[in-house]
Amino acid sequence: MSNQYEVLGKAPDAEDLKNLSSEDIHLTIKNLNAGYGKMEILHNFDLFISKAQSLCLIGPNGAGKSTILHSIYGFTNIFSGKIEIDGKEITNLTPAEKLKSVGIAYILQDNSVFPDMTVEENLLMGGFIKDKTEESYQEAEKILDKYERLRNRRSQPAKVLSGGERRLLEISRALVMKPSVLLVDEPSIGLEPRYIDMVFEILGDLQKNEKKTIILVEQNAKKGLEFSDIGYVLVSGQTAIAGRGDDLLKNDDVGRLFLGG
Ligand SMILES: Nc1ncnc2c1ncn2[C@@H]1O[C@H](COP(=O)(O)OP(=O)(O)OP(=O)(O)O)[C@@H](O)[C@H]1O
Ligand SMILES: [Mg+2]
Repeated sequence: MSNQYEVLGKAPDAEDLKNLSSEDIHLTIKNLNAGYGKMEILHNFDLFISKAQSLCLIGPNGAGKSTILHSIYGFTNIFSGKIEIDGKEITNLTPAEKLKSVGIAYILQDNSVFPDMTVEENLLMGGFIKDKTEESYQEAEKILDKYERLRNRRSQPAKVLSGGERRLLEISRALVMKPSVLLVDEPSIGLEPRYIDMVFEILGDLQKNEKKTIILVEQNAKKGLEFSDIGYVLVSGQTAIAGRGDDLLKNDDVGRLFLGG
């Protein structure tokens, strides 16, 4: 990347990052080197997050933000390092195993609803790898009870939904598996401001009331940091700055580089 980022001070070490979480750490990434094919994108990357905490990854295009989510979920080549949930190593589990046995759900950056399926069918797709489909029905029903916007359109094809409603459906579909960790890539991308607020309200509700642990990537650094307990600024596959979301909003370097200040 260009050298506008070179002036940043000393990068935080694992101890600094750990101190941003409580004692009770839910997900840990230790000294991860990962990428695609033979190409290493993340270099000695560490991450710590407690249960029901939220962490936002910001940084320039190509810094490796999505690659962090991909690595947690199991879409990258991991050369070395460890990923753990509640102290149990999960580094090499497949995405299906991660979703099913350890409760990690991934909400894609791209539009991923099935346009010709109904809202309800889309929701049930979220539980496709559950053995007990009965349980998926119950979860889908709970979600429809909770979100009127989806309930009103349950029998209509998903293509009739607005952008904000689609994003809500994408998030809800992941919830059918009752995950404990939600990985969310660019929740606000392509949405009008009123829908952006709606999406962050929903994520906030999931964090506070349902105790979900949330790791998100957000191009809108201000929104992402306002929402999140913790923020990491990623530059060239490494964390250059980390802090509490509130503190990063006040940080001069973050302001200059990412908040247009
Ligand atoms: N599937 C892939 N195969 C090969 N290289 C990839 C793949 N996905 C991403 N990369 C490369 O990895 C690097 C980091 O990409 P990544 O998508 O993690 O960046 P990002 O920080 O999420 O950027 P953006 O803000 O543009 O979404 C980039 O150089 C990119 O070209
Ligand atoms: Mg990305």
